[in-house]
Amino acid sequence: MWFLWFQAVSRLSHTWPIIHKAKVEAMTLDLALLRSVQHFAQAFKAKNVSLHVLVCNAAVFGLPWTLTKDGLETTFQVNHLGHFYLVQLLQDVLCRSAPARVVVVSSESHRFTDINDSSGKLDFSRLSPSKSDYWAMLAYNRSKLCNILFSNEVGFPQERLGP
Ligand SMILES: NC(=O)c1ccc[n+]([C@@H]2O[C@H](COP(=O)([O-])OP(=O)(O)OC[C@H]3O[C@@H](n4cnc5c(N)ncnc54)[C@H](OP(=O)(O)O)[C@@H]3O)[C@@H](O)[C@H]2O)c1
Repeated sequence: MWFLWFQAVSRLSHTWPIIHKAKVEAMTLDLALLRSVQHFAQAFKAKNVSLHVLVCNAAVFGLPWTLTKDGLETTFQVNHLGHFYLVQLLQDVLCRSAPARVVVVSSESHRFTDINDSSGKLDFSRLSPSKSDYWAMLAYNRSKLCNILFSNEVGFPQERLGP
């Protein structure tokens, strides 16, 4: 245990001078509003900087049923669709910035649901359910399954994102 701790600290001490000099800037992004995602992507592109790692971490859990201004169930839009849209909008920047990565944070709970109907086809009504079909835990699990499916499929051409 101590050895692992020592290794971690010694690794950090190598990167500390870089971290110490890093310039950090916060930008606003509301994943529950597709227009906000668009504005964020435009504002980011206007900075003309590289994008090496995009971590899709934000999520909501256990919300009562609500629709976003875009007319979609909020858990689905915040946890999956907003990230999906953001990655599409920043795809060209990611490719230009190779080596680059998209990291999508999911949850083990994605295993406890599916989004197909009984014939095995994608059931769109399960993604953004009506109030009567809504259960917060299920909505979260489905959004986390979308995260997994998205990260499996996102694959930009390897040569464009680097090793
Ligand atoms: N915690 C767990 O036990 C657990 C387990 C498995 C997986 N995960 C996954 O790990 C990730 C992080 O979870 P966490 O527990 O650290 O979550 P958290 O503490 O609740 O933080 C969620 C973050 O998402 C942001 N967010 C919420 N709605 C947003 C919106 N509409 N637009 C933009 N950002 C929004 C929040 O921003 P504000 O602070 O500004 O509201 C907050 O920074 C999630 O993807 C979650 O599914 C968590």
